[in-house]
Amino acid sequence: MPDELTGKVAIVTGGASGIGRGTAQRFLTEGARVVIADVDRERGAAFAADCGPNAAFKHTDVADAEQVRELVAFTVQRFGGLHIMLNNAGISGARHPRLLDEDFSDFQRIMAVNLLGVMLGTREAARHMAGHGGGSIINISSVGGIQPAPGLWTYHTSKASVIMFTKCAAIDLGEYAIRVNCIAPANIETPILSSVLAVHVPEQEKAQFMSAVRKFIMSRQPLRRQGTTDDIAEAAVYFGSDRSSYVSGTVLPVDGGMLAGTPATSNSFEDIVKRAKPA
Ligand SMILES: NC(=O)c1ccc[n+]([C@@H]2O[C@H](COP(=O)([O-])OP(=O)(O)OC[C@H]3O[C@@H](n4cnc5c(N)ncnc54)[C@H](O)[C@@H]3O)[C@@H](O)[C@H]2O)c1
Repeated sequence: MPDELTGKVAIVTGGASGIGRGTAQRFLTEGARVVIADVDRERGAAFAADCGPNAAFKHTDVADAEQVRELVAFTVQRFGGLHIMLNNAGISGARHPRLLDEDFSDFQRIMAVNLLGVMLGTREAARHMAGHGGGSIINISSVGGIQPAPGLWTYHTSKASVIMFTKCAAIDLGEYAIRVNCIAPANIETPILSSVLAVHVPEQEKAQFMSAVRKFIMSRQPLRRQGTTDDIAEAAVYFGSDRSSYVSGTVLPVDGGMLAGTPATSNSFEDIVKRAKPA
């Protein structure tokens, strides 16, 4: 159904890359006007310029309360309102396979972006929406916030917290016709996974390594295909549109069925990594 978001104004944080970029594009196709907010000024501004007059870029660090307040003010001034807030910006931090080796050096930054960023985005959007007939707030968590796994200790913890915060906010903001829902993606093809897993892999071997990692992940999910940013955009359009007007406080996994369980034919991670190494 095209034009599902006609007349609506949306903010997409982390909109310069990956899921945010794909979803911003889809929101525009559906008739919304979109503010792309990101710390990456160059990519964000270039992307917004490519998108035409219904898009604008606002440089924003979601971990900074004042900048998030300014983002909402900018959006309302530029496009006359705010109906959809997609709190998507996120970072993974360094991976430490064993907890005994974790130094928590990136704890503050991960929590500030992934959790405080979502909390600030929700509050600032709600402050506007509460006096203007409501709206839809969509927070991006992760299957990693539901399914425990070692390695990204702070990341997983931050994403679990996003789910709890989403539900608390949904309870509190319903009175203003503000809906708050959460999407939990897994295995979507964006730069984030390689930025954490392939740090020590030489540049010329990165593509081969990531292809092996992707194959491993796909072997662990019932639907054997790579997730795309379109898959997440589809869910975001549903939550942003009036089709979900009676839905709040939910968490929708978009994960190829991963949370349902692991197929019996799955490989072990170490086998895959070993096989990916050049002889
Ligand atoms: N790709 C996946 O498989 C996957 C799985 C689960 C969850 N997620 C979540 O989806 C969201 C988007 O991730 P992605 O895969 O598109 O990654 P990505 O790295 O492609 O995009 C993240 C964007 O967020 C921006 N960003 C980072 N810190 C910011 C800050 N402080 N303020 C504003 N913008 C900031 C980056 O510049 C980048 O443009 C993240 O929250 C991530 O945790 C992704």
